[in-house]
Formats: sequence, structure tokens, C-alpha cells
Amino acid sequence: MDDTNPDQDAGWRDREAREDIPAERPMAPPIGAILARRFGRRDLLKGGLAAGIIAAMSEAKLAAMAAPASRSAFDFTEAIPKPTYGHVLAPDHALDVVLRWGDPVVAGAPAFDPQRQTAQAQAMQFGYNNDFLGYFPLPKGSDSSTHGLLCVNHEFTNEELMFPGLGRQDRKAAFAGMTHALVEIEMAAHGGSVVEIKRDAQRQWAPVADSAYNRRITAHTRMAISGPAAGHDRLKTSQDPKGQTVFGTLNNCAGGQTPWGTYLMAEENINFYFLGRLPQGHREGRNYKRFGIPANSQIWGRYHDRFDLSKEPNEANRFGWVVEVDPYDPASTPVKRTALGRFKHEGCETIVNPADGRLVIYMGDDQRFDYVYRFVTSNPVSKDASANRNLLDDGTLSVARFDADGTLAWLPLVFGEGPLTPANGFRSQADVLIEARRAGDLLGVTPMDRPEDVQPNAKKGTVYVILTNNSKRPPGREDAANPRPINIYGHILELKPPGGDHTAERFGWDPLVLCGPKGEARSTWNDMTSAEGWFAAPDNCAVDDQGRLWVASDQGELARKTKRVDGVWALDTQGPARRTAKRLFGAPVGAEVCGPKFTPDGETLFLAVQHPAAGVRRDPVTGNKVKASYGDPATRWPETDMSATMPPRPSVVAIRRKGGGKVGG
Ligand code: FEO
Ligand code: CA
Ligand code: CA
Ligand code: CA
Repeated sequence: MDDTNPDQDAGWRDREAREDIPAERPMAPPIGAILARRFGRRDLLKGGLAAGIIAAMSEAKLAAMAAPASRSAFDFTEAIPKPTYGHVLAPDHALDVVLRWGDPVVAGAPAFDPQRQTAQAQAMQFGYNNDFLGYFPLPKGSDSSTHGLLCVNHEFTNEELMFPGLGRQDRKAAFAGMTHALVEIEMAAHGGSVVEIKRDAQRQWAPVADSAYNRRITAHTRMAISGPAAGHDRLKTSQDPKGQTVFGTLNNCAGGQTPWGTYLMAEENINFYFLGRLPQGHREGRNYKRFGIPANSQIWGRYHDRFDLSKEPNEANRFGWVVEVDPYDPASTPVKRTALGRFKHEGCETIVNPADGRLVIYMGDDQRFDYVYRFVTSNPVSKDASANRNLLDDGTLSVARFDADGTLAWLPLVFGEGPLTPANGFRSQADVLIEARRAGDLLGVTPMDRPEDVQPNAKKGTVYVILTNNSKRPPGREDAANPRPINIYGHILELKPPGGDHTAERFGWDPLVLCGPKGEARSTWNDMTSAEGWFAAPDNCAVDDQGRLWVASDQGELARKTKRVDGVWALDTQGPARRTAKRLFGAPVGAEVCGPKFTPDGETLFLAVQHPAAGVRRDPVTGNKVKASYGDPATRWPETDMSATMPPRPSVVAIRRKGGGKVGG
């Protein structure tokens, strides 16, 4: 099979993309002429308020922003995908596979045997569908780029590729293939991994076997609930009558790291795990409808009452949060931080605000027409890590309204302010946080084209908002920040905190790039972008030690149309080369690329390659459509031999430049 023509269907990923928005909300009116002006022009802001923001910036910062780079900030030979079952990489770079699904993590874990897998083994082995990657140097407090803890989210499971004899449809209650034993394996394959890793003299990374740091977090791990919603009636269940303890974390997509050395896991599509019906007239009806709960996508509720709404109607309020984990203490209890709001969290990237030392966290809610959020702690980050233990419990959550004049307003989600009152069903800040989406609806903020990573760039004083796509935005409902109807290719915005103040009530913003085939669909690539250089459906991103931007893609079904595999691209953000993209890595067929993460020195780029082989392909002999399965996958990556008996395995890879130096040159 030709992986430049993948004809794929990434299964659950595409459920994510197909989900219809359940709430009726007003969208901004069309503003065609303004759009054309904003997206047609290049850099700095114009207009009254925007000019004020610019005036507030230091002259040095403005000069740095305007300084034209004479050429691309990147120097490497582009990766050109060829028909192959494997990945492709820029030829001046090398790649090692660091961790694969099933690799032993916790001391004493058995070797991986996919034909005889058990939940007990899986709970000690590397989980499925690696997504977010965090890197925490060892020793703690150092900036080591050769030794650290890799923190990995395991977002979801692909039963058809994990279990012999199953198809994708077997996940649902109506199909017979799933069993209690397989459900338990799935639950153990979710969550996260903390793994000590080291780089050797040949600059190759490997896990440290049986390290005391190594840990698995699963759908059964006991966690504390903290912040304003902890202990609230709406979080109480028969297992937890105090509403302060929950078992497990689900659908951990992207995430973040705090400056005090903790790992943030973002819970995304938690609606997929719930089935059954709420009792008639139950108070959570409106809340769950807005969240798409239940999605009836998994049969866990058949074996665990807490995932059946008819038996535990409040359990779904205990998911959809950000979880904080101390990776340096494997005995620590993870904590769900409710102050950061409950929605489909894609990620939670952090920056210490230069002016006052408070922590700012940027978050996307990954659904069509959902919002971009910001959390600002009330208190500054302390040099004493123990003083930061509960810093995330106290602060202000805000949601973004993008205005057509090139500014955006951060509107605080505070109980009692504006419409967030008992008249609209909010009786406390806990209510506002549990129903953050509905609070945003009432504030009239901007429905976006699927916000994924929202990434601050400390070197440049900017923030990137990655918007995957939105094929459901009707013509006439474009707005300044989401300028294309039927936006199948996605786009990226660049936010500009005035004077580098990430806590400001208003930011400036500019489009960075409209994605899609170069020369088509109003895409805005720099002419320096090659025929292979453009991308579609941007999802996760990373900023390297030089402040350069790297973008990973997740096309799902769109790959059939673009006839391209997913991958990782360098993207110039400054000077004449702005909007030039260049491909570093092409994923194996069926996979998306997640979690790009650099070591502090910029010499290693870790990537999480998720769900290789997933989807539908065309049989080269019969021409029939074939659904990838354990017995008939499109690739067995990272195995290089298609006659191998191993199934395809989601894996973390480490990319380095041949001969040494920074990834990307
Ligand atoms: Fe899990 Fe938004 O991708
Ligand atoms: Ca994602
Ligand atoms: Ca990121
Ligand atoms: Ca995605």
C-alpha cells in the first residue's frame, strides 16, 4: 500500500471530528470585508485599541518582532514521504524508538505478549495511544538534556488493533466482541506513564529498566479533587459521598508542565466512556447535553456502575478536568484541579508571567465551535516548590472573545458577574466551573474551529492558537478569527499579550497561517514553502530552545482528501520567511503525531506516534476497502518487517540531528 495515498479512517479520532455540537449558540455575524483585510495583510496590528497595545510594548520588543530574518530560521533537508509502511525523516536527522505500547515500565513488569495480554500486565506496561509528552530533567532542578523523566499521556484505545479477532464495532454494547477482561485491559492502557530515560554516548535514548521513578497511572488510580468544585454535591457519588476522591483519569490528550516540576494531564473526550440514561428530570440533563454525555462509545458501564448514568448520575462531573501529577514522587496522589474548569481539555501549556511571576495556563476546548481559555493564578510562583503545591486551586479562569479589530478580550468566568448568576442556574463558582462551556456561551465569546494546543512562546512574547478544522461552519458564519466556512484544513492564530503581559485583559492577535494545499483553499503559505512543505489539520505544537515553532498534524479522514500522511513541520513565524513550512517527519500510515517535546538544549525532539495503522485502506489486490485490524493492519510500525507477528504499536520516538547539534539546524 502506498502511504502517500492512505485512504484512512482513524476510527475514534473521526468520531471526535464528527461530533455535532449539541447546543444552540449565536455566532458572530459575517464581516467579510474586515476578514479580507486582516487575513490579507502581514504583521503588526492596526486600529485604535490595537495601536494602544502596540504603544504599550517596549521599543526593543517591537524591534525584535519586526526584525526581518533574511531567510528561514531552519536549516535541514525536507522529509519527502515515499510509498512505505514506515515513517519518513529528514535525511540529515536520525530517529530512535524509545518506548512502545506494552514495553515494561514498572519494576517487575512482564514482557509484552499481545496474544496473552492481561490487565495486570498492562497496568505495569506502557499504555496505548501515547499523546502528550513532558520532559522533566534529572536530577530535579537541573536542566539536563541527557537524563530525565518522560511523562506520557495514554489517550484512548483501538480495540481492533489491540485484541486479536476484534473489529472497531466491538467497542459498543450492541456488539459481542468485548469482554470484561478486555475492558479491564483497556482501562489499564489508559492514563499515563512516568518513565526515567537516559541518553548514551551515541546520543541514543533508552528507558531505565526498573527505575524507582517509573509509574503507571490508569483509569483505576486514586486521585484527589481540589479547588472550588471539590466536595460539591454535583461531584458526590455512592463510592465517594464526600465528592473529594475519584478513581482514574480518562482520555488524556495534550497537557503541560509547571515550573515547579509537575505534570499536567488534560482530560478531553470523557463523554465517550459513559452510557445509560440519567434518571428522568435529573438536574445534569442540560449540562450533559452540552458535553455530549453519554456518547455510548464504550461498554465499561456494563462492568463498572460508575460509567452508567442511570446508576451514578454524577460520575461524569468528575471527569473533564486537568490533573496535576508530581512525577518525581511515584507515591504521590494525582490531583484534579477544578479551578481550571471542566470541558474537553486538549492541553494546558504554562508560562510564568514576566511582570508579576504568576502562572498563566492556556487551554483549548477541542470541539467544533468551542472556546479558548486562560487561567491565571492568584499568587506568584514561589521558588519553594512546596509553596506551589496548591497554587492551581486559586485563580481566575477566563474565556476568549476575538474581535474583528485585531484584539481579543479575556472574559472572566466568575460566579455572580454578568450572566453567571442563579437566574441562569449558577449558584456558586463550582457551578460555573462544572459548566464552563455554558458559562462561556452566556458571555457571548467566539466559537472557534476546534481549539487544540494553545502554546505560549516565552522567547517571542507570543501565544499560538492551533485550530484543527471545522467542516460544519456554515457559509456566512465566518468571523475574524475563523475566516473560512467549511474550514476543513484548519489554521493558526498568533496572540500578542501587550508588553508581554500574559495577564492583560486584552491582547492583540493576528492570523499566522491558513492551512491546506499550497495555492488552494485560500491557504496563506509563504512562497518559500515547497510542494511537500504545506500541512493540514494542525493539532499539537512545540516551541524549541530558540523560540522556533514546530507543528504536528492530525488529519483523520481528511488524509483521504489530501493524500498525505500526518507529520511534524517547522514553521517560520518571523520576517520575510514567515508562514514557510517544512516537513521534518512523516508518520506511518494511519498514525497522527502528538506531543512534540524538546529537551532544554533543543538537541532531542520527542514525538508520540499515535494509532499507527488505524482506519480504512484499499486492498491493493481486490480494490476493496479493508478495515485495519489486529490480524490485518496496514503497517506493523515500529516493526520494519510486515511479516512480523507484532501488532502495530503506538510509540514514542526521539529525533536528533546526525553528527550533533540542534534539531532543525
Ligand atoms: Fe485528543 Fe484534541 O485531540
Ligand atoms: Ca490532540
Ligand atoms: Ca504543546
Ligand atoms: Ca486532534
